[in-house]
Amino acid sequence: MKFAPFVGSLGGEGAEAWAILTESRAAQERGEDVIILSIGDPDFETPTFVVNAAIEALRAGDTHYTELEGRSSLRSAIAEKMSHTSGVEIGPDRVTVLAGAQNAFYSTCRCLFGQGDEVLVLDPAYVTYEAGIASTGATQVRVRQHAHSGFRPDIDELAASVTPATRGIVFSNPSNPTGVTLNSYELDAIANIAIQNDLWVLVDEVYGDLVFDGVYRSIVGLPGMLERTVTVSSVSKSYAMTGWRCGWAVGPPALMEHLRRMTLITLYGLPGFVMEAANVAIREGSEDVARARETYRRRRDLVLEILAEARNLPTLVPEAGMFLMADVRAHNDDANVFAWNLYRSTGVSVLDAGAFGSAARGWIRISYGIDETRLAEACRRIVQFTNN
Ligand SMILES: Cc1ncc(COP(=O)(O)O)c(C=O)c1O
Repeated sequence: MKFAPFVGSLGGEGAEAWAILTESRAAQERGEDVIILSIGDPDFETPTFVVNAAIEALRAGDTHYTELEGRSSLRSAIAEKMSHTSGVEIGPDRVTVLAGAQNAFYSTCRCLFGQGDEVLVLDPAYVTYEAGIASTGATQVRVRQHAHSGFRPDIDELAASVTPATRGIVFSNPSNPTGVTLNSYELDAIANIAIQNDLWVLVDEVYGDLVFDGVYRSIVGLPGMLERTVTVSSVSKSYAMTGWRCGWAVGPPALMEHLRRMTLITLYGLPGFVMEAANVAIREGSEDVARARETYRRRRDLVLEILAEARNLPTLVPEAGMFLMADVRAHNDDANVFAWNLYRSTGVSVLDAGAFGSAARGWIRISYGIDETRLAEACRRIVQFTNN
């Protein structure tokens, strides 16, 4: 039987890099001594008061179909949070609740881009953007953020990449995999390019709560950006709720109408008990977010401290999130080969950052989403491996 051409877009460039995660998970299940630093799932538990809210909702019979656009109390909570990080008034009519940032990103792409369009993506980029954009028929145009400039956006290159077919600029801020958080100069410059060329900006802010220093600012708050920006985010990383699959898109009300119709034919609304849990997490979870942020900061510093002893292993200091990049080119030109060699001789599983785009070739991505004792042990094994 034949499948539709669409299935050809479901893979994406860096798919084979994840084989190391699959392999190390299987080894861990077999009881082998492996340490997995190749995935970004927080190791904390979802806060108890959040779990309790879901249980209470279930016991109260919240098990039926729900509002397609998401429950109004949750949409208000998200709108208030976005108003805070953007500095502009965002109402709940600009919010649609979806199944994680992932689903919000995909659904939004389907509404913004189509055949013949070009979409500029800051490279390295979160792996699934490529397939999300390709599924619309649009062409992804990668704009490299160079290692030598700390993977910060090259604004001239971005501006020079715009053609008459360009419809949007896509990036995560803070970035996965680099941990770079855009400064106000970079945000202004990207906003200006978008405004001058009448482009959408689709920004993924799942790590927005996990910025270590300073105040996080959403690009939607800049002058002229409210009607051309779509922000996707979720409760996944901030509140250790990856498995709850609750996220959202925030954008112009007309887009919300399209997303609502898309939800009608796909998701048909998120479970009510999940939305009740997300609602209390956002409204009452600020201390939990602060604790998570401090934990990640401590772990980041621990990784940097131990890896400083490694021979020829420059690192990039992440400004946010749970990942750290290290340059392995002095050891092996192919970071995927380095990662497998490291894994086979030490049991430490890291990811070839080249999976996120060619700009990150020769780098590995190390997740610090595990407890400090194991993390320190993993880093010591990396040091031993590189210094041998
Ligand atoms: C940049 C980025 N966006 C989106 C996601 C997925 O988020 P969610 O669980 O909300 O779908 C991840 C998960 O690793 C991510 O790193």
